[in-house]
Amino acid sequence: MRSFRNVLVTGGAGFIGGNFVHYLFRRAGGFTGRVIVLDALTYAGNASSLADVERDFPDRYAFVRADICDADAVRRVFAEYDIDAVVHFAAESHVDRSILGPEAFVRTNVMGTFNLLEAARSAWGFGSGKPREGTLFHHVSTDEVYGSLGPTGYFTEDTPYDPRSPYSASKASSDHLAFAYHHTYGLPVTLSNCSNNYGPYHFPEKLIPLMILNILEGKPLPVYGDGKNVRDWLYVEDHCDAIWRILTAGSVGRKYNVGGENEVENIRIVNTLIDVVSAKAGLDPEKVRSTISYVADRPGHDRRYAIDCSRIKKELGWSQSVSFDEGIDRTVEWYLRNMDWVAGIKSGEYTKWIERNYDNR
Ligand code: NAD
Ligand code: TYD
Repeated sequence: MRSFRNVLVTGGAGFIGGNFVHYLFRRAGGFTGRVIVLDALTYAGNASSLADVERDFPDRYAFVRADICDADAVRRVFAEYDIDAVVHFAAESHVDRSILGPEAFVRTNVMGTFNLLEAARSAWGFGSGKPREGTLFHHVSTDEVYGSLGPTGYFTEDTPYDPRSPYSASKASSDHLAFAYHHTYGLPVTLSNCSNNYGPYHFPEKLIPLMILNILEGKPLPVYGDGKNVRDWLYVEDHCDAIWRILTAGSVGRKYNVGGENEVENIRIVNTLIDVVSAKAGLDPEKVRSTISYVADRPGHDRRYAIDCSRIKKELGWSQSVSFDEGIDRTVEWYLRNMDWVAGIKSGEYTKWIERNYDNR
């Protein structure tokens, strides 16, 4: 088992990064190191998601507000905190935004990842001098790099890349850069391609939190196209557990698919959420169902994603531990108990952006 003293978590104020920081402190067996979160706090970043960690682990946690595209700032963090592992989440992550404004995706996901890889290579001496031992750069990626499936078949680690949105194309580029740094300079890199996550701290522009909040607020429930696109949903803590296993025991230079083995059509998700939220909030589910609104499809909308995650199961003993029913229940509960977190987000940049771009919501 590898162990690390100073783990740099980029994008730690976002959805999965925030859950991963909580996982490191509360659930990762044997982790005694320090966590340094580097996050630009874009519209999707919320430092208050980590307030409890800051309070409970003041000696083992530091937050640096910086842009991964700022090469000097990133270099300074490596030097100041003596970083020996990177878990790289920071990204522009929403497909709809990538269609409306792709430039930010190329900037952060491609150039930002490049900057981080350069900073790691230089700080750890790969490609010049004597490389430092005991270091690792884990790059967090998505199943969307593999493109879109028909009604059958699965993405394996050998499926050729075929990204179809500016988001997935920028993530595919970053995956290639990460492995190029491994092959060319010997930088110790691991990579994971995960399916759709859901759970606490999920920014309410993505399907599941958007629907939960729109149901509670009595707003229309926008379903793109025919509602029959399929995603493979995984509870976020199971993704964190997969990353932890790769970090501590994954083979360097290897990629791992991570998925829920839980394919669900969008319209079924919406109907499930209507039932669960209505039961907990005392709403009439049929009245809520009448607010489903089929809207214009997303341009280039990928039809189906499905992950074959047998490699990580076999090699690292990982498996999903939270069923979809249990995960949805926990997620809805979390939103109901954390409406102040939601209110904070809704009063900020997010609301303004949504008003500018999605007048119909
Ligand atoms: P998110 O949008 O919730 O969070 C992204 C975080 O990155 C935010 O805190 C934001 O402030 C920060 N960030 C953005 N640009 C930055 C920059 N230039 N410099 C520094 N910080 C910056 O995203 P997420 O859903 O938590 O996704 C995290 C990672 O996981 C991404 O790389 C994404 O591609 C990948 N992923 C996501 C999913 C999913 O279902 N959400 C599935 C598989 C993989
Ligand atoms: P999303 O949560 O944006 O994740 P991704 O596009 O990365 O898979 O969307 C999940 C699915 O839900 C996708 O097929 C698009 C669809 N969708 C809707 O039908 N309505 C919505 O309002 C949103 C945000 C998504």
